[in-house]
Formats: sequence, C-alpha cells, structure tokens
Amino acid sequence: MSVHDQLTQAFASGLATALGLPVEDVLPLVKPAEPAHGDLSFPTFGLAKTLRKAPPAIASGLAATLQVPGLSIQAAGPYVNARFSSGPFLAAVLAEVRGAQQRYGSGVEGAGKTVVIDYSSPNIAKPIGFHHIRTTVLGHALANLHRHLGYRVEGINYLGDWGKQFGLVAAGFEVFGDVARRHDMAHLVDVYVKANARAEADPAFDEKARAFFRRMEQGDADALKLWKEFREASLAGFEPLYARLGIRFEHIEGESRYEGRMEQIIAEIARTVGVRESDGALVVDLPYAENDPPILLKKSDGSTLYATRDLAAAEDRWERFHFDRSLYVVARDQSLHFAQVFRVLKVMGKPWADRCLHVTFGRIAGMSTRKGEVVLLTDVLDEARALALDKVRENQAAGRIHTDNVETLAEQVGLGAVVFGDLKNRRNSDYTFDWDEVLSFEGHTGPYLQYAHARACSLLSRGGGAPEAADSAALTLPEEEALVRALALFPRAVRTAADAYEPSFVASHLLEVAAAFSRWYTLGNQDRSKRVLVEEDARTRAARLALADAVRITLSVGLSLLGIPTPENM
Ligand code: ARG
Repeated sequence: MSVHDQLTQAFASGLATALGLPVEDVLPLVKPAEPAHGDLSFPTFGLAKTLRKAPPAIASGLAATLQVPGLSIQAAGPYVNARFSSGPFLAAVLAEVRGAQQRYGSGVEGAGKTVVIDYSSPNIAKPIGFHHIRTTVLGHALANLHRHLGYRVEGINYLGDWGKQFGLVAAGFEVFGDVARRHDMAHLVDVYVKANARAEADPAFDEKARAFFRRMEQGDADALKLWKEFREASLAGFEPLYARLGIRFEHIEGESRYEGRMEQIIAEIARTVGVRESDGALVVDLPYAENDPPILLKKSDGSTLYATRDLAAAEDRWERFHFDRSLYVVARDQSLHFAQVFRVLKVMGKPWADRCLHVTFGRIAGMSTRKGEVVLLTDVLDEARALALDKVRENQAAGRIHTDNVETLAEQVGLGAVVFGDLKNRRNSDYTFDWDEVLSFEGHTGPYLQYAHARACSLLSRGGGAPEAADSAALTLPEEEALVRALALFPRAVRTAADAYEPSFVASHLLEVAAAFSRWYTLGNQDRSKRVLVEEDARTRAARLALADAVRITLSVGLSLLGIPTPENM
C-alpha cells in the first residue's frame, strides 16, 4: 500500500472508531483535500440525520477528540481535514518512490485476475488512418496500467481480416495491381483505395468484389490463397508501426478465426434466444430492447457478419482466458453493435456477459487532407518527427540540448507529442488535433513532460548522481512539500485511471507533477540558496537531489505507462 493510502486508511480507521461505524463505510468518503485545506478531507453531511446534529458540530466534535499518529486534524465547517505531518511524510514518500523505482505505483490488487483488452484491431488491406491512434494508444495504456496493478493482461489485436474489402483488393488487383508488388502493403492500400472508388461508380465491379468474398466463405482454395497473401502483406506492413509505438500484443488474430464456427454459434442462438428469417436473411430479435433494430446474423446470400463473428469471439475469449473483464476499446460509433452483442450473450445465458465492456471514445477533428482523404497514422508520426527535428536542432544550436543523436531524439519527441496529444483528452471527448498545440515544449504536451523528465535526469548527472541516503528534514521549502504531495498521489492516479479505463487521469496527474517540479527548480533563479544543486550546504543538496530522483522516477513510470518514450537528454 502506498504511503498516501496508508495515511488515508489510518484517518478513516480513526474516524470509524470515533463514529462506531465499519471502516469500509468511511473509507470511500475520505478524499484528497484542496491543498489549502490539508491533505485529506472527510465530509460529515451524511451523518447529520443519524446523529441529529448539524454537520459543523459533528466535524468540530470529531476534530477535538481524534488523534492519529502522522496526522494533524482540524475541522473546517462541515469537513474534518487532516494534514500529514511533514517530516515523516516526506521521508516515507521519498523512500517509497526511490525504493520502488520503475515499480512505483504498482500493486497486487489484480493478482489472479485476467483482463482481456481488444484494441487497435484495424481492418486488413485498408490503410491505418490517423484516427486509429485512439484505440491503439488507449488500449496500450490500459494494458500497461492493468499490468502495473498485477492483472494478467491478454491484449488482442482483433484484425478485420474477413469481409468484402478483400474482394475489393482482389478485384482491384486485376485492374490496378502490379504482380511484382503484391507483397507490398503500400501498393495494396493504393489498389484498395482505387478499387473502392471504382466499386462505388461501377455496380458490375462491386458485384465482382462481393463474389470474391463469397468464394472465400465457401472455402474456394484459390480465393483463400490470395486472401492469405494479402493478409500476410498487410500484417508485415503494420508491424513497423506497432514497433514504433512500442506495442506488443499477446495475440494477433482476427475475424477469420471464427469462420468455421458460425453455424455452431447460430444454432446456439436459435436454441436459446430464437432467430427468424427476414427477406432471406437470418436475424435475432432482442427481448427487452425497445426500439433497437434486430441483429443480422446472416445475409440473404448466406454470408455472415461482424456481429456474428463478435458473438463467437466473445465465447472463445471466455473459454481461453476465463476473464474477470473483457474490454473492447472501440469508437463510440459502435455502441449499438456492442450493446446488442452483449445483450444477446446475456439472453443466451452466459453468466460472464456482464464482464464484457465497451470502452468507448470520441472523435478527432482537424485531421483530414484537403481532398478529405484519410491521413495515415504513419504519416502523422513522420511529420511529428520532422517538426520535432527542427526544434531539437534549434535547441542544440542554442546550447540547450547536448546529444549526438538528434534523429533518435526527434523520433522520441514526435511520438511523445502525438501519443500524449491523444491521451491527455478524456476518452469520450471529441477533440481537434492541432500541430502547434501538440508539439509545443510548453503547456500541456508530451514534449513538456519529456523535457521535465530530462531536466530531472540532468540535475542528477550534474549533481554527481542520486545520493544513497538523504535527510529529507532538509526539505523545508513549501514548493518541496507541494512537490512531494504530488508524487505521493501518483499511485492513486494509476488506480483511478485503471478503474475508470481513463488513462487521461494519469496524463493530467503527470502535468501536475511537472508543474510542481518546475515551480521548485526555478526558485533558484531568484535565490541561490534555493537552487537544487546548492553548493553551500551538502545536506540540503543531497536531500534535493533525492527529491529530483523521485521526480525522475515518477515521470518515467507515468510516461512509460502511457507508452511514451523518456529520453534522458533533451
Ligand atoms: N475492425 C474493426 C474496425 O476497424 C474494429 C474491431 C473491434 N473489435 C471487435 N471485437 N469488434 O472498425
């Protein structure tokens, strides 16, 4: 348990004993306080009725009697507030962070539990558009956060590798393809884009594409051979992108995995929920669903659909992983689809249906080419790298950066900018992508956090490294206390982020840490005695270096959980 949690727990136990209530009832009410009021706060409103007393009277009564080691307790109106006793608190937090290193904020609450995370999941033979960044980086961060808390994580890249788009590529290849380049993803994407346009204008061509997919579903060996080639080329094409983002999936599989299991799941649905024919198609009507359209399980030409495959996939995941949670990190646009799939599972009598969750997210605006085409994710990352390179060179020329590898640094900063630019937003908010905003070295950006981390690293290296032992009693500046408090709240941010499937909570917490850090280390600009590397006083200097070390660790852990590189020099 983190130092912050221990103190929270001690405060809650004290309150519970004084009130004669179980601690489980009190604990959820204890919240971090506004800094001006202390560290923890307990509202007494909920007790007024049973105690027949006004909340301020309850609060002052509790404050007068309550004694908890490590806390000073005071009433403020209807609240009972607690402030951590500075000395022991600072020492405990620094020891905690520096002892844990890259494990800071980790935990065991997930031990023995499994969470399945379906994320990224692009459609094969189509380009990976920039908007795909959302599921990809959200899923990656959620996987990291859960792993940090001890969960077993089964990350699945569930490829859209079955469907008419292969027909389009195949039919398109006859017209626009170059046989020599048939393993080249970029070429296939080009063919796909052209074929898609042709199909819209030319019904005969469209029918050709459909017919090809039907042949795939009927098991036609030639069609399947070609499909396999396209699939492999696409996968090989995706690989560099995932490597670049530092993503490794536990499983890369796709819709095609369920091709042989369609009849079985349809039969089970027919038996448990009931199906009916409608214009030659097979549909399932959902009981309890008011105005929703029925789910289509099979089209009139006998081909199966996305929903049918997701039903089979959900069952398969249960059988393989016995998950505690099965997450689908997919755009909010697919809400109806998942609501229907989960409801069918429930009515089928799957007791685990309630463990399935659609983790939704909003849209990105401001990111399409003038012609309205999709912007490729790779192109955005390349552009970010190019823009970062300009800035890095500028900073290098001005003597602010000392590195002999500007190219690597530019790639790391570009990635940090784009990934953080996405993750800092609440996942369900729609945001507008803005190059200037995302790439700035100041403000709420990835490069700003990376810079803060590098700054901490450079303090440590200029100060001769992190000291083994330091006397935290030398940390007496209010800015130092505020910074330690921000560090102490990091484990809590990790937990609230994982619980709400909201990595942005970690993102905003890191911004707070960086802001508190910058308020502290800039003090020395005005007053030499407040410099981190203060020369006159070895004891204070060591304590400050230990604090800089704890900042470095916290930023490094937090950025890594978000999937953002942490260069040491920039
Ligand atoms: N391939 C789909 C798409 O790009 C996303 C798949 C999400 N996962 C799922 N199990 N349906 O829209």
